[in-house]
Formats: sequence, structure tokens, C-alpha cells
Amino acid sequence: MQNQKPIIEIKDLKKNYGSNHVLAGFNMVLYEGENLVIMGKSGSGKSVMIKCLIGLEEHDSGSIEVMGKDINELNREELDDLRTEVGFLFQGSALYDSMTVRENLEFPLRRHKKKFGKIKDTTPLVMEALDNVGLAHTINLMPEELSGGMKRRIALARTLILQPKIILYDEPTTGLDPITAKEILLLMMSIQKKYNTSAIIITHDVDCARVISNRMILLVDGLNYIEGTFEELSTSTDPKVQAFFK
Ligand SMILES: Nc1ncnc2c1ncn2[C@@H]1O[C@H](COP(=O)(O)OP(=O)(O)OP(=O)(O)O)[C@@H](O)[C@H]1O
Ligand SMILES: [Mg+2]
Repeated sequence: MQNQKPIIEIKDLKKNYGSNHVLAGFNMVLYEGENLVIMGKSGSGKSVMIKCLIGLEEHDSGSIEVMGKDINELNREELDDLRTEVGFLFQGSALYDSMTVRENLEFPLRRHKKKFGKIKDTTPLVMEALDNVGLAHTINLMPEELSGGMKRRIALARTLILQPKIILYDEPTTGLDPITAKEILLLMMSIQKKYNTSAIIITHDVDCARVISNRMILLVDGLNYIEGTFEELSTSTDPKVQAFFK
């Protein structure tokens, strides 16, 4: 399915917080155009891994290459540029409560001016991003006027507005009812189709993993414990693997 060209490569990633060895030599490759699901218990280091990936957390050792660039070798500005290519949907929605939907979406455009050059009118970009998540009519609302599912979709629109090549989803469906979760999943898939993005999806939602993954990695004890398709992992006889699919 994927053309096997790596777009992210993580090798022997280690990250400790004091005596807490969160990542103990984690390896991972994301191929262009694929949806890679990472599963792991709560506290196993999934969010830490993804934060290291975009330089929000410093790792202790190991290498992280994103689109052919070793993030350790980038200066602040280069890292900032790279972040416009890597969209991050935070765990929870993390909208700015004091800003309207429009202002929330404009925020990344202001922060990363370089990517689109000087924008006279942000409206077309804001509208395209909102159209992608079916919420054009909310443009002037405040976050408190939105439901949980709508907030998640607006957060997704904000991630999309910089037209990233890679999207990192941290628990995109957690805390949503099954129907809204399904809607978010369908959106994620339509976005991938439309923009040909590659994605890492962190989730403990088995349905989400089944629907969206081309490949999965289980993070156990700070390591990439096992990888394979949903079909392969969900039928594994390894008790540590089975535990995820119960
Ligand atoms: N800034 C920090 N300082 C100290 N310890 C941290 C920090 N961030 C994370 N940790 C620790 O790292 C471990 C992994 O946390 P992380 O948030 O990556 O878990 P997770 O796999 O994303 O869990 P969840 O499924 O609950 O989101 C936890 O033990 C956590 O306490
Ligand atoms: Mg997490």
C-alpha cells in the first residue's frame, strides 16, 4: 500500500525523567502516506515520544529524522520551519478559550508567516480548513459555545491550516461518544485522501486502530514491543499483545 519511503525514522530513542526510564531504546519508521497507530498503556510514554519527535521535549539519546532531517542538528528557526510540515493534534483539544474559532485558526498562520508568505486575507485559508471539518458556520463562535466533538474538529482544522505533510494525532477519539469518534475517524481518513498526508495516531481505542491503521506498533516497557497489521496483532497469542485487544 505505502511506497515504503520513510518520512520519519526514530532510532534507539531514550528519555528519562530522573529514575523514570520512559523510553528505553524506541525504534519506529513512518512511511510516506501511511497511517501508523501506536498503542501503549497509560503512562507508557506515547505522548513523550511524540513530543520528542517535534522537539517539544528533549530526548537523552538516539536519533530522530523527520523528512530527512536530524532534528538534533536543526537550529531553532529550522525546527520551527519543520514544525509547519508536522501538524500536531494535542491530547484533548487545547483551543484558546479567549479566542474565537477564526482567531484560533489564524494563530498558526501568524506564528509561521514564512510558509505562505505575507497573507493579506486569511479568510480563504480559514474557510478551507473549516470546510474540511464541516464547521464553516462556527467561524465567529467562542470555544465555550462548541460541543466536545466540535472542539476536536476545530482543533483538527487548526492543525490542517498550515497544510502539513505529516499529522501526529494524540488520542484523537478519546472522551468522545462512539458516533462522534467515528465522525472524527472518517474526517481523518478523508483528510489523508485529500492531502496525501502521513500520520502517526496514538490511541487506545481498538475500533479506531482497526479502522484507520495500515500498521501498528505496541509500546511496552519503553520499547517498540511488536509491530504488524491490526489483523496480525489482534490475533497474536502473546498475552502482552492480547491485553490490548480485550
Ligand atoms: N514533563 C514531565 N516531567 C516528568 N515526568 C514526565 C513528564 N512528562 C511525562 N512524564 C512521565 O513520563 C511517563 C510517560 O508519560 P506520557 O504522557 O508519555 O504517557 P502516555 O503513554 O501518553 O499516557 P496516556 O495514555 O495516559 O496519555 C509518565 O510516567 C509520566 O509521569
Ligand atoms: Mg498521552
